[in-house]
Amino acid sequence: MCGIVGYVGKAVAPDNKVSPSHRPQEVVLEGLRRLEYRGYDSAGIALAAPGMTELASAKKAGKLTNLKNEILQNPLPEATAAIGHTRWATHGGPTDRNAHPHLADNGRLAVIHNGIIENFAELKAELVEAGVTFLSDTDTEVAAHIIARCYKGTEDLTEAMRLAVGRFRGTFTLLAVAAEDPTTVVGARHDSPLVVGLGDGENFLGSDVAAFVAYTKDAMELEQDQIVTITPTSVNVINFDGTPGKGKTYAVDWDAEAGDKGGFASYMDKEIHEQPQAIADTLRGRVDANGALQLDEVSIDESVFRAIDQIIVIACGTAAYAGQVARYAIEHWCRIPVEIELAHEFRYRDPIVNEKTLVVAISQSGETMDTLMAVRHAREQGAKVLSIVNAQGSTIPRESDAVLYTHAGPEIAVASTKAFTAQITAAYLLGMYLAQVRGNKFPDEIDSLLSALKAIPAKVQTVIERGEYVKATARSMKSADSVLFLGRHVGYPVAMEGALKLKELAYIHAEGFAAGELKHGPIALIDEGLPVFIIVPSPRSRTGLHSKVVSNIQEVRARGARTLVIAEDGDDAVRQFADEIFWIPNCPTLMQPLLAAIPLQIFAMELATTKGLDVDQPRNLAKSVTVE
Ligand code: G6P
Repeated sequence: MCGIVGYVGKAVAPDNKVSPSHRPQEVVLEGLRRLEYRGYDSAGIALAAPGMTELASAKKAGKLTNLKNEILQNPLPEATAAIGHTRWATHGGPTDRNAHPHLADNGRLAVIHNGIIENFAELKAELVEAGVTFLSDTDTEVAAHIIARCYKGTEDLTEAMRLAVGRFRGTFTLLAVAAEDPTTVVGARHDSPLVVGLGDGENFLGSDVAAFVAYTKDAMELEQDQIVTITPTSVNVINFDGTPGKGKTYAVDWDAEAGDKGGFASYMDKEIHEQPQAIADTLRGRVDANGALQLDEVSIDESVFRAIDQIIVIACGTAAYAGQVARYAIEHWCRIPVEIELAHEFRYRDPIVNEKTLVVAISQSGETMDTLMAVRHAREQGAKVLSIVNAQGSTIPRESDAVLYTHAGPEIAVASTKAFTAQITAAYLLGMYLAQVRGNKFPDEIDSLLSALKAIPAKVQTVIERGEYVKATARSMKSADSVLFLGRHVGYPVAMEGALKLKELAYIHAEGFAAGELKHGPIALIDEGLPVFIIVPSPRSRTGLHSKVVSNIQEVRARGARTLVIAEDGDDAVRQFADEIFWIPNCPTLMQPLLAAIPLQIFAMELATTKGLDVDQPRNLAKSVTVE
């Protein structure tokens, strides 16, 4: 939520031998382009250069392109430092005046912010009393004035930031730049993301590495409650209490091109197509020389894994549906009770969690605030936390006892696709690992599960190649205003994920139901022509659910529904009851979600495209929800 970029470079020597340039502006605009998935209510930039009496800035409501047009019409000067922001509105509507950066001290200091300053009202009252005039409705402008006041007292931007953050409650990443100090950007983080990019004669700050990966792959993680000061040639970290701090450096493992559209019409289209690779990469290198499964970073002793008596999966959105799918596999393979809970509900219901609980946090971004807070709560109660995360260097893995990375590469489209299938894959690996450690499965049984999983990427590829028929169906449904999704067993969370995709992208009413629940209410919704997706288990499935779902298809069809059926190749029993069939290859029951999700992703994308909607940046949403 909110993308933040900071840059310093090309310092002007005292003798003015090195000229300043437009690089700060270019770097920040490029960083904002790559971070726009975090929020797109407005965008803005502030620039500093030696000799400026006040900072140069521009900001515009709406997508980044509006800001770029504004800059084309009113070019900004050359500079040595810059900060930029792409906003997902919290305090104050998505207008020009509420766009960041917010300026203070007569335009001599600029601040951008991600998060919420909860005590902003009392701070604002104090500032108004002191004669400050506010130009926006944001909590950020309050922060700008407080930092500016501290700066006046100290003439040191780092110390000013340090004094100011002591007054803020809530969550924040703040970046500040001052006209008096045009080769410095100072950042502070408290429960909100910020990473450092290490360059040669230039340095970067960003909400995530996408902000600077086009320029450097050397990055530094910060801890919570730290302040970082970057100049072209230095990066200095201190803690909020003023003691020296230390960041952890690492190399970013994906290329800038991975964050481009690569010839696809949208990021979402590209990411759907990347799923075979994402699943294969998540599976890669997991077996050691002795044939035993391995996770990424585990500081949990095997004896702890053997002693756990429950697993609680916490996540939000699509990641929570991945967790729901995984529950079926983990319970089946490991015989441990698995609960799945939305992270924002978990913390507030006084969950029964102790040292025999393994909490599994699933998150693409590794930054979702609700999930992070649930992780902290679980650890406070003595539980071990293992996170399944896609974004390296993010907060949730750092605060977990163990990490299993999904190697899906950057996911830019707001609606999650490849992260979902990679999360299921990783959670299955965890299930197998637990079954191995706890002795629930013999090595050859694990081998055969792993082989079945390794066969999935090629099958996903087949489903993607069959996508044209799904698209044609979607195009024919432009005027649908409600769509239902039914599934049983692992097909149930897939149904809910299919409905979520459609809501997010096409803005139409969509609901996923457990097919068994149909007769307990939802069947009353069925009306002539209502489109209903049904995910049919394999006819070979030993769950015995195939015939039950086929009956459900008949029940909705008899009441006039248009049935859109996802079924396994050769499932002749469903053919006569389906208005449309989207075939998927044969696979074990527990692996079917990895295939069945794909037509639903393609359907939602195509329907949204047909309606002329922006599939990568749906209205009101943000990819990374870093406020509660
Ligand atoms: C947002 C995104 C969803 C995502 C959810 C959880 O709502 O729009 O696509 O599933 O956050 O995000 P996470 O990064 O924790 O997986």
